Amino acid sequence: MAIHSLLLAALASSASAVNLYVASYAGTVSTLQVTPGLGEDVYAASAALRFISTNKDCGSAPSWLTFAENRILYCVDEGFATPNASVNTLKINADGSLTKIQSIDTIQGPVSAQFYNDGKNGAVALAHYSASAISTFLRTRDGRLSPLENFTFTAPPGPRPEQEKPHEHQAILDPTGKFLLFPDLGADVVRVYSFDSNSKLKEQKSLQAPTGSGPRHAVFWSPKQSYSKSDIYLFVIHELSNRIISYAVSYPSAGGLEFKKLQELGLYGDRADPVGTRAAEIIVSPDNNFVLASNRNATVFTLPNPDPSNSTQIPSDSIVTFNISQKGELTFQELSPSGGSFPRHFTLNKDGSQIAVANQNSGNVVIWKRDAKTGKIGDRLATAEGLGQTTNVLFDES
Ligand SMILES: *[C@@H]1O[C@H](CO)[C@@H](O)[C@H](O)[C@H]1NC(C)=O
Ligand SMILES: *[C@@H]1O[C@H](CO)[C@@H](O)[C@H](O)[C@H]1NC(C)=O
Ligand SMILES: *[C@@H]1O[C@H](CO)[C@@H](O)[C@H](O)[C@H]1NC(C)=O
Ligand SMILES: *[C@@H]1O[C@H](CO)[C@@H](O)[C@H](O)[C@H]1NC(C)=O
Ligand SMILES: *[C@@H]1O[C@H](CO)[C@@H](O)[C@H](O)[C@H]1NC(C)=O
Repeated sequence: MAIHSLLLAALASSASAVNLYVASYAGTVSTLQVTPGLGEDVYAASAALRFISTNKDCGSAPSWLTFAENRILYCVDEGFATPNASVNTLKINADGSLTKIQSIDTIQGPVSAQFYNDGKNGAVALAHYSASAISTFLRTRDGRLSPLENFTFTAPPGPRPEQEKPHEHQAILDPTGKFLLFPDLGADVVRVYSFDSNSKLKEQKSLQAPTGSGPRHAVFWSPKQSYSKSDIYLFVIHELSNRIISYAVSYPSAGGLEFKKLQELGLYGDRADPVGTRAAEIIVSPDNNFVLASNRNATVFTLPNPDPSNSTQIPSDSIVTFNISQKGELTFQELSPSGGSFPRHFTLNKDGSQIAVANQNSGNVVIWKRDAKTGKIGDRLATAEGLGQTTNVLFDES
């Protein structure tokens, strides 16, 4: 009987267990193993969320994770506590633990990494928040990087205290794979670059954001999920104005990108913005039907403690879901709890049935059930606590 149920448990776990990588300002990248269906509202020690390993090879302040081919994970170290920041290549071992391949110093404050020009070996672009810069590196398929270019921006900053200088906050590639975009929270622009066959960048006309809005992150979308140049939209999330602005994107023959503003909407549906709210992440769901975004520093939910023996309730910030019409129009669907304070980053699994949220100020990652068809976020499946300030979370389904 005992052996029988052990076997069943082993089968269940080999069939559906997925690893989760969590970056934290504690200087760690943790590997956690998620096995859905084996429990609810449980701590990491339980069957549903198992702790595998901790890696400390991504400097003092891991801020962003990106998968590459050949079971390689790139980890960006923001480096605010050390003279240099770094970008680190980690090999994913069979058991989900991580081993360093290479570490390379960068200018200060990188918070996002994006691969581009992937025809050959390709390159990676970093957005540097504190150093007001963009830097690029050539990369090889075995995960090694070498510095290519860097650009530092100066004035004009925006009117808000957070905008004392330019702050590059993300690097993203357009759906044609020909342009890189860098939202700049300090300068109220989204910078646009093309690049040549050697991965060298060439500045194009920027997208101007509203004054004081603080564009932070953005995501492209197309109803066709294709790489054609028609029917392409860009959704930009602004940290200071707490608005999403959508644009229709076109590709003029003269080069660069053109943006036509379509819609501007808040992140709380019919409710007024709570005082202090700060928008963070924006993604499109894997089925292409929903946009999800996160709201930090605004407790709009209270949750039971994940530890059933602890009666202290947990204040929670929120995740907002919009659906997308064929014409790129967003409609507010729902607000749901993030599971803690400051949901800086979150991610959906491949079939959209789970969302994992990194609540930075709670030092946790919370996994929620999600109905992929309706987009509705449901029960809390698992919570991992004590991870330090969590900054990025990825499901390993590559
Ligand atoms: C590392 O930091 C030192 C001291 O601030 C600086 O001189 C050097 O340029 C930095 N290296 C890189 C790659 O940014
Ligand atoms: C940044 O680029 C300049 C040349 O534009 C170069 O001298 C410098 O070494 C680069 N810095 C880093 C950290 O790669
Ligand atoms: C969080 O919100 C409070 C108001 O509730 C505000 O005083 C504080 O500055 C906000 N913090 C951040 C980091 O925006
Ligand atoms: C109960 O939960 C609260 C909130 O997470 C926590 O601060 C506190 O330490 C917990 N108490 C015990 C005894 O674990
Ligand atoms: C989006 O949601 C609105 C309001 O719930 C609904 O009327 C509309 O049909 C939905 N559109 C799509 C494409 O699902």
